[in-house]
Amino acid sequence: MKADALRQMFLEFFQSEGHTVISGSSLIPENDPTVLFTTAGMHPLVPYLLGEPHPAGTRLCDCQKCIRTGDIESVGDLSHLTFFEMLGNWSLGDYFKEEAIVWSYTFLTSSQYLGFNPDRLSVTVFAGDANVPRDDESVAIWKKLGIPEARIHALPMKDNWWGPAGKTGPCGPDTEMFVDTGRGACGADCRPGCSCGKYFEIWNDVFMQYNKLEDGQYVPLQQHNVDTGMGVERTIAMLQGKTSVYETELFVPLIAAISDMAGQHMNASDELAVAFRVVADHLRSAVFILGDNRGVSPGNLGQGYVLRRLIRRAVRYARKLGLESGALAKLSVPVIDGYRHVYPELDQRRDWITTELGQEEERFEKTLTRGMAELEKVLGKMVEHGQKQFPGRVAFRLYDTCGFPVEFTEEICAESGLTVDREGFDAAFVKHREVSKQSAEKAFKGGLADHSEYTTRLHTATHLLHKALQQTLGEHATQKGSNITAERLRFDFSHPEKLTPEQVAEVERIVNAAIEADYPIEFESMTLELAREKGAMALFGGKYGEMVKVYRIGNFSKEVCGGPHVQRTSELGRFRIVKEEASSAGVRRIRAVLE
Ligand code: ALA
Repeated sequence: MKADALRQMFLEFFQSEGHTVISGSSLIPENDPTVLFTTAGMHPLVPYLLGEPHPAGTRLCDCQKCIRTGDIESVGDLSHLTFFEMLGNWSLGDYFKEEAIVWSYTFLTSSQYLGFNPDRLSVTVFAGDANVPRDDESVAIWKKLGIPEARIHALPMKDNWWGPAGKTGPCGPDTEMFVDTGRGACGADCRPGCSCGKYFEIWNDVFMQYNKLEDGQYVPLQQHNVDTGMGVERTIAMLQGKTSVYETELFVPLIAAISDMAGQHMNASDELAVAFRVVADHLRSAVFILGDNRGVSPGNLGQGYVLRRLIRRAVRYARKLGLESGALAKLSVPVIDGYRHVYPELDQRRDWITTELGQEEERFEKTLTRGMAELEKVLGKMVEHGQKQFPGRVAFRLYDTCGFPVEFTEEICAESGLTVDREGFDAAFVKHREVSKQSAEKAFKGGLADHSEYTTRLHTATHLLHKALQQTLGEHATQKGSNITAERLRFDFSHPEKLTPEQVAEVERIVNAAIEADYPIEFESMTLELAREKGAMALFGGKYGEMVKVYRIGNFSKEVCGGPHVQRTSELGRFRIVKEEASSAGVRRIRAVLE
């Protein structure tokens, strides 16, 4: 069974059990500020798990793209991935343990569905602790279904409790399902949950009955929920009888492309296999992060930093394979082509993805040689003097001036038996961030300087400009900042390279045509969800149910905005771009006036 068939079969199965199929969300969370990335299908559903009614009902299912970098060091083995797809079904205060486990078992073992031999399955359940009792109910359900006690393992909170990656939120005990690969056990203690790879975890049913508060307390939730997650890559690997996720159709074209470029076979040595897998995994994740509708550029903070680290780590392993500069951009092609029928956003953002990958690889290269020389010099001296700890201050300098992620410095130091002083690094980092935050605040105060007539006209022109940029450059050209005074408008937007004179002229032409069309400007108040549904550009996250104003300029543009605006576009006069320049990595800035 291929991934396409699995996604479809899963959703149809749960649909036949009364679930509504909802679409997956962005990789950059909109509803959960506790995480940088969507790490599981439940993140977009947090408000509903806490009790808000979901418009699609109390039984939902979907396929969600996820990023998890917590296990990045394990990538290179047979099953760990930083990007994966998660199939999930949810009960929002509807069914609970019995139905969830019976459906999981049926879908896994019935010959109508996945048809796994039940003898290959084992499960884990929560063993209980001082606050929450052992999950005997789940044990009883599994036994009733025929899983013998010897294959039901009770494990502690660190294994069998789903708490969101953030500190607070809905959580509870879970029961995880494993397929035995048939390989030999690594030792007497080898059992599901062991890291040797004998058991592949493919599905997890979480019983969300608590909310964890800031102070660490678990309070029972009014509503008992079910949150499940099945890993697409691992499940098809097991269904196809493969030993690793990299042998499935989701990876084969990419691995083949790497192999062609490197002129080497993945399985020539263990070391080569690891390098192939790291490049393939990290590149795929980077493509999905860049290709997301709310995609970010590589940077030094938050999501941008995770992306930078993935790309740079991929570059480092690509070099081990002898791949030359520009390899990552080329390798993004099989990833985009393999997934565009499921995730059309990748196709829409294809140029942006390849340009960003190329530019980040280049940036890294420029500093790599210099940074490596410095790192090796310091490291050499330290080894000579028998020192064991690499100074955090130097690790920060390498990060700040050479773009070395600290984990990267750590990996290289580890090769010589040294650790990095992370506390020293963190202290230097926090200080740096404070300073740059202060200067950023001084340099940019977004919004409208006043509500004068000219400023208001420039504000309306900004909406026209935003739309014109998207029409000219593509949908990725979204607003990153705006600053309007009575002299000029200044508009920052995502775009990887300088605009050509033709593009500047085209943008001006579109804006001026919209002005001449004399469109009326009207607004309507509605919830943010409805605004998004109606296709309004809404750039900033908001709260569920929040009322917003949507400004419509004829049928030319529709944007969530607080106003004020003029009444008709003909009031604007003639629009002219005065300057187009870089603002920061992946962000361009336009200054424009009305004449
Ligand atoms: N949220 C659960 C997980 O990701 C289903 O494992």
